[in-house]
Amino acid sequence: MSGGRSLVDRDGAAVWHPYTQMKTRPAPLAIARGQGVYLYTEDGRKILDGISSWWVNIHGHSHPRLNQAIADQARELEHVIFAGCTHRPAVELAEKLVAVLPRGLTRVFYSDNGSTAVEVAAKMAVQYWLNRGEPRRQRFVALHHAYHGDTVGTMSVSELSVFTQAFTPLLFPVERAHAPYCYRCPLGLDRATCGIACLGDLDAKLAALGDEAAGVIVEPMLQGAGGMIMWPHEFLAGVRRLCDRHGTLMIADEVLTGFGRTGRLFACEHAGVSPDIICLSKALTAGYLPMAVTVATEAVYDAFLSDDRMKTFFHGHSFTANPLACAVAIASLDLFLEEDRLARVRRLETQLVEGLGRLRDLSIVGDVRVIGGVGAVELVRDRASKDGGGYLDALGPTLSAAFLERGVLLRPLGNVLYFMPPYVIADDEVAWVIDQIRAVLERVNYSDS
Ligand SMILES: Cc1ncc(COP(=O)(O)O)c(C=O)c1O
Repeated sequence: MSGGRSLVDRDGAAVWHPYTQMKTRPAPLAIARGQGVYLYTEDGRKILDGISSWWVNIHGHSHPRLNQAIADQARELEHVIFAGCTHRPAVELAEKLVAVLPRGLTRVFYSDNGSTAVEVAAKMAVQYWLNRGEPRRQRFVALHHAYHGDTVGTMSVSELSVFTQAFTPLLFPVERAHAPYCYRCPLGLDRATCGIACLGDLDAKLAALGDEAAGVIVEPMLQGAGGMIMWPHEFLAGVRRLCDRHGTLMIADEVLTGFGRTGRLFACEHAGVSPDIICLSKALTAGYLPMAVTVATEAVYDAFLSDDRMKTFFHGHSFTANPLACAVAIASLDLFLEEDRLARVRRLETQLVEGLGRLRDLSIVGDVRVIGGVGAVELVRDRASKDGGGYLDALGPTLSAAFLERGVLLRPLGNVLYFMPPYVIADDEVAWVIDQIRAVLERVNYSDS
């Protein structure tokens, strides 16, 4: 309290929240502290963080080892310009990342968040071709249902949607190819017999672009904000194959999938492929501090080496390679490997497959999808038409409120409800959340919203 006013009242007077209609929003949760998988509100409620605080948290909140790493680093060096200077945490983190990344990704470029990681990748790709004497290669192919961020460049390569509609005049043109959204197959085929025919669209789009294609950008295996769409690994292998066949760059946006979320350290591993450029953020710092990396192959990097200073990559941010963020990222990666988080994510996957799979008996459930530590339930008005209402359907907020009452923070993407907890969640906590999901879904229907 300050001057007798609650935090929520003061927030209402001074703060503007992301992705929030401030006129009609419910009061925000005033979070006083976090511990493990729980958030504790000012008014004494204990809430399980079922979305890893926007998909960033992996080891739980306020982890002693990570807290210590930041405190130790703050005593040594809090920040320094990264053009013309370097420091131990940045070098050490780059070395550790290169050691675990898919083969060939060797040059680490630091930035601040997931959007900038992708923005950097797009700029890097365009200048790569320019520096190599192919200035016509400026066009990207992205996939339907893609989400790559909220800056102008990343909105351009994202699907045109409610997120981007107001900004359409600012966006650059992008070719869009089918995504393997099997529940709503763009070709109306069945996965058992389709032969991944949807890849043909990417092939056609690349052929049409010819020597104008700078790159293909994808969220490997899991398209997140576009609806938690999970891929057959054959599609990912096909993306790599087509990029090679058409002689263009493959950019993997692993901002969400990186660091174990899909059950492999990086989602590209599901198909055994290495992209030319990978983008990482979110779990990179275990959800502690905003930082991102865009990691390129030596071949991409080499195209920027020149006596001609115009071939320099002119991109950078004030907080590039912030030492505190690097220090916590190093500690997070060490913890991840020492405590075998991947084994935990795989067990979580089994629990989600079994627990969420049982929800198929509810008529509101159209599809259940699971990959690694992410479980999604796509809700529909009617199974035959598969009408789900979309992102702005009132069902989403109705569900969120019902889950909060039961002590779980879940934030459906419209009619797609998903559960993505920090990896350290215990087995009985997973079972409890699934029970809450069943209880809420048994009571809700579209006409309530
Ligand atoms: C795949 C993907 N790329 C990029 C972003 C943008 O990251 P940020 O919100 O840190 O800018 C997100 C965020 O959800 C994402 O899921």
